[in-house]
Amino acid sequence: MRDAAPTTIYLKDYTPFGYLVDSVHLTFDLADHATRVTSRIAFRPNPDATDRTFFLHGEDLTLIRAAIDGAEITPDVTETGLTAEVPNAPFIWEAIVEIDPGNNTALEGLYMSNGMYCTQCEAEGFRKITYYPDRPDVMSTFTVRINGDLPVLLSNGNPSGKGKGWAEWTDPWPKPAYLFALVAGDLIAHPGQFTTMSGRDVALNLWVRPGDEEKCAFGMEALKKSMKWDEDVYGREYDLDVFNIVAVDDFNMGAMENKGLNIFNSSAVLASPETSTDDNFERIEAIIAHEYFHNWTGNRITCRDWFQLCLKEGLTVFRDAEFTSDMRSAPVKRIHDAIDLRARQFPEDNGPLSHPVRPESFQEINNFYTATVYEKGAELIGMLKRLVGDEAYKQALDLYFDRHDGQACTIEDWLKVFEDTTGRDLTQFKRWYSQSGTPRVTVSEDWADGVYTLTLKQRTDPTPGQSEKLPQVIPVAVGLLSPNGDEVRPTEVLELTEAEQSFEFTGLAAKPVASILRDFSAPVILEHDHTDAERAFLLAHDTDPFNRWQAGRSLAQDTLLRMIKHDAAPGADYLDGMLTVLRDRDLDPAYRALMLGLPTQSELAAALFESGETPDPMAIWTAVETLRQATAQHVQDLLPRLLSETQIDAPFRPDAEQAGKRALGGTVLYLTSRLDGGIKAAEEYAAADNMTRQLTALSCLLRAGAGQAELTSFYNQWQHDRLVVDKWFALQVSTATPEATVDVTRALTQHADFNWKNPNRFRSVISALAMNHAGFHRPDGAGYELLADWLIRLDPVNPQTTARMCSAFQTWKRYDAERQGLMQAQLTRIAETPNLSRDTTEMVSRILG
Ligand code: ARG
Ligand code: ZN
Repeated sequence: MRDAAPTTIYLKDYTPFGYLVDSVHLTFDLADHATRVTSRIAFRPNPDATDRTFFLHGEDLTLIRAAIDGAEITPDVTETGLTAEVPNAPFIWEAIVEIDPGNNTALEGLYMSNGMYCTQCEAEGFRKITYYPDRPDVMSTFTVRINGDLPVLLSNGNPSGKGKGWAEWTDPWPKPAYLFALVAGDLIAHPGQFTTMSGRDVALNLWVRPGDEEKCAFGMEALKKSMKWDEDVYGREYDLDVFNIVAVDDFNMGAMENKGLNIFNSSAVLASPETSTDDNFERIEAIIAHEYFHNWTGNRITCRDWFQLCLKEGLTVFRDAEFTSDMRSAPVKRIHDAIDLRARQFPEDNGPLSHPVRPESFQEINNFYTATVYEKGAELIGMLKRLVGDEAYKQALDLYFDRHDGQACTIEDWLKVFEDTTGRDLTQFKRWYSQSGTPRVTVSEDWADGVYTLTLKQRTDPTPGQSEKLPQVIPVAVGLLSPNGDEVRPTEVLELTEAEQSFEFTGLAAKPVASILRDFSAPVILEHDHTDAERAFLLAHDTDPFNRWQAGRSLAQDTLLRMIKHDAAPGADYLDGMLTVLRDRDLDPAYRALMLGLPTQSELAAALFESGETPDPMAIWTAVETLRQATAQHVQDLLPRLLSETQIDAPFRPDAEQAGKRALGGTVLYLTSRLDGGIKAAEEYAAADNMTRQLTALSCLLRAGAGQAELTSFYNQWQHDRLVVDKWFALQVSTATPEATVDVTRALTQHADFNWKNPNRFRSVISALAMNHAGFHRPDGAGYELLADWLIRLDPVNPQTTARMCSAFQTWKRYDAERQGLMQAQLTRIAETPNLSRDTTEMVSRILG
């Protein structure tokens, strides 16, 4: 049970802990419901601290014994930890506690998944394992002995001893407790090997449950590529003799970078062509890289406190994005990231959950593992790199690793290495870390006497707790095209530092067409009143692949908004533009598929709301359907040829080239099935020899109102494979019509395989409901009610996953009064649930505002 009145923690209140930890020895005697954890910790007074209170965090622990320097003591124990009298000199703390991993459904601390013991300690889970100063600025070496009758016993660092029923691990690198990990179970190793740049051999292993052996090869290769890339690009070498990855079925997040022992949600590591889509492969490669890159950006250099989370997460997301760009296609990756940022981060940044990349307060830190901290945090690194240049970025990073290795750092430390390297004052740049909200940049143009003047204005709307915003430094990459489509000014980065600023371009023969915010050079909303014709021009001629795509996207959005607002017919500029794109064989197929994409219905709702209209989810859905149908008809002559051109004869490879071809093929199949009712899709389904093809075909069939037989055979074929069954669940909800979504969802929650305590399965159904825009926003509120029912049910079992999913309600104030009332009622019902977790309480109260 948690304390009644939640406490708020503030960045400004940071003080160092009164003691340093020199070493930690842990012994685990594993038992499902009574695991004993014996700790022996060497403390000494911290010369840099003034407060000498000896408080150790601890939750859900049964204290059996505590001793200082061998003498048993009786500490003062509360629900959140203990305090004790300790000497003003170095001393040894010993404790024995008992914990119950078998009943730990929150999946935080030590818990069990399919008979296997595993841990998740970030952010504050270690306190559920033993009493400890569970804060990232307390770093120590760890030695861990595991006693247990299981074949595989793993912890951090290097193996240092092993016998029947026990194993010992020693991690020589000082680390905070959130990086602690332990795994014990009946696991099978998929081995690998890597030789580092200085010639050291590292034994790699990917540990999985029996039956998953065939899904390891791709992850192992991704790991080796990541290790090599970090050496080549950042000069970072791995620092232990072993590197272990474990796949776990019950996991709240994607994965975790525990030192030398990464733990992964099985959906984020297991892959095979038969069971995984191209998107799965790309995501897995990126997450493996992400967790591996944390070894330097996160583990060797960690965070002083949890307010600095973006120090490791923003930088590591940026690094994994660079990796993906290098392994695959840089423009495609940039477009994916912009789509993702707009879909997940913009709604957060422009609603009641808005918070700075470095928050200043929180009640539950788990609620701040957000798109803002991660993805906007990564955008800040990208802007910094663009502002200082590649060479200075490299020097600054070298200095960062050099200066701060082994430390727990702050954003101030991070920015200082850039200031020291470049001599540049980053005071204004720092506002990106402290101001929440998405800046809007408006463009106006002037052309007179051969001078083209571009005037940029920036403003950021008020966000919770921040009514006044100051101008930020915004790198705006701009290029100019002449009226005949030639580029007359190559990309140049304008630094917008004022609220309003003009930039002049001289020596031009005619008024140019400006391509602004190339490569999505800043995470802002660009307001540029282009005509359809200008957008079509940029779609045809822009040399910047991102902005060429953006032109098509904006054209689609404008078209849809006109259809929604004025019942307009789909415009010719859009339809002809798509025809040209599809015809252009010089364009990368992946890129052509992206060009055919549409803004999400939720993005359209946001755009309507921002232009002062009340979005009607049903009208949005209808407009999207109408535009899709019109597009299919407009390009129909091309479809058969494109279908055959996108067939792949070569054996399956999950690389960018084949994936791009399949993506285009999938789009073409979708348009085709709108015209033939699914005849082609049924053929494709029957012929499918990989999951991407199979799932795409099934999705086309379901969207065409067909495919019930295939849906059943898909289930029968894959019912033994939990990751594929997750897809089967999610697909039915995501392809349901607005009228049917809630009923389909409800029926699936009755299915025998709907194991709602498994986060992947829960999300496959319940998140899919929240993401089916028109279905979720059914006018009678049944979608809201169903979601709330399940959140209330899950909360006592797994607060973290429940709290995350509350964000489905974050946009509630965009909608009409009836829907607002219905959503508010459900939020209130959740808030008033007795014993609601701190996690969910904080989320719901922030959303209600
Ligand atoms: N550090 C992990 C990662 O980004 C995520 C862990 C999140 N854990 C949590 N309790 N929110 O790779
Ligand atoms: Zn991370």
